[in-house]
Amino acid sequence: MKSVLTGTDMKRLLPITMVVMAGLLPISSVHAAGDADVPSITARVLALFEAKCASCHGPDVQRPKGKFDYVTDLERLATTLDMIEPGRPDTSYLYELIADGEMPPDDSDVPPLTDEEKALVRDWIAGLGASAEATVPSGEPPSPSMEKPAEAAPTKIVPWTVRLGRLHPASVHLPIGLIFGAALAEILMMVSRADLRAASRFCLMVAAVTIVVSVVLGWWNAEGPTYASRSSWELFWHRWVGVAASTTTVAAAAVDIWSRLRSDEPRDRPRRILVLLSAVLVGVAGALGGINVYGLDHYS
Ligand code: HEC
Repeated sequence: MKSVLTGTDMKRLLPITMVVMAGLLPISSVHAAGDADVPSITARVLALFEAKCASCHGPDVQRPKGKFDYVTDLERLATTLDMIEPGRPDTSYLYELIADGEMPPDDSDVPPLTDEEKALVRDWIAGLGASAEATVPSGEPPSPSMEKPAEAAPTKIVPWTVRLGRLHPASVHLPIGLIFGAALAEILMMVSRADLRAASRFCLMVAAVTIVVSVVLGWWNAEGPTYASRSSWELFWHRWVGVAASTTTVAAAAVDIWSRLRSDEPRDRPRRILVLLSAVLVGVAGALGGINVYGLDHYS
C-alpha cells in the first residue's frame, strides 16, 4: 500500500506547521508584556550591572578586577565619590569608563554596552542628585525598597530572543508527543502487520520542524537571567541531549524523504532506527529538562 503522504504533501506541511507555531507566539507576548511593568530605574541599572559587570566586579568574584567588587551595591556606589558624583554623570569616573567603552573591556566575553544601556546609567546618575525618590541620599538610611532592588523588580533588561525563549517549555511538548507517536507506530509495525507508515511519517515530519524551533527557543531561554548564571550538569546535558535529539529527528525525516525520492520501494529501516533513537534521546532530554526545573528529588 502506498503511503498517503507524498513529497509534495510534505513540502506543503512544513509552512503550515510554521504558521501554527507562529500562532502560539502572541499568546506568550501578551504574557511577557504583562510582567514587564515599569521596573524602577535603580532596578534596571542593577540588572544591567549584574548582567555585564558582576562577573568581574561582583561581591562573589574571587579576585575582583581592579580590586573593585561592589558594582551591584548601588547604594555604596552612589555614595562613593571616586566612582559616582551624584547628579553629574560626565564627571563620574564609572560613567566615563562605560561611556568611552572601556568597561566592559574589549577582550572580555561580556558584550559592550548599547547606547540605551549607557543612557540608562547616565540617567540614573543624573537623577541621583535631584530627587530623594530616585536616589540614595548620603546621610539618610535607605528606604526599604532600596535595600533589595532585585526583589522589587523581577523584570530585567531582557533581549527579545530570551523573551521568545520562554516559550521553550510550552513548545517542547508538541515534538515530544509526535516523536513518541512515530516511535509507537514503528514499534507496532515491527510486531504486527499494521501499516502505520503514513502515521509515523506524518508525526516525524511535523516533529522534525517543531523540534528545531523548540531547540532554538530553548537555547535562547538558557541565555536568560534565570539560567545564564547556572552551570549545572543538568542544564548542560539537557542542552546537548536536546540538540542530539533534534539532529537524529531531522536526520530521520531527511533519510525518509531521500529514500522516497530515490526509489519506488523505499526502505523503512533507516528511518525506523533513527526514529527509535530520537525517542530515547527525547525522553532523556525531557527528563533532564524536568530535573533542571524541578530538581532531582521531584518524584521522591
Ligand atoms: C571581563 C572583566 C570585566 C568586566 C565584565 C567589567 N570590567 Fe571593569 N574592570 C576590569 C579590569 C581588568 C579592571 C582594571 C583595569 C585596570 O586596572 O586598568 C576594571 C576596572 C574597573 C573600574 C575601575 C576600578 C578602580 O577602582 O579603579 C571600574 C569603575 C569598572 N571597572 C567598572 C566596570 C563596569 C561599570 C562594568 C560593567 C559595565 C565593568 N567594569 C565590567 C574588568 C572588567
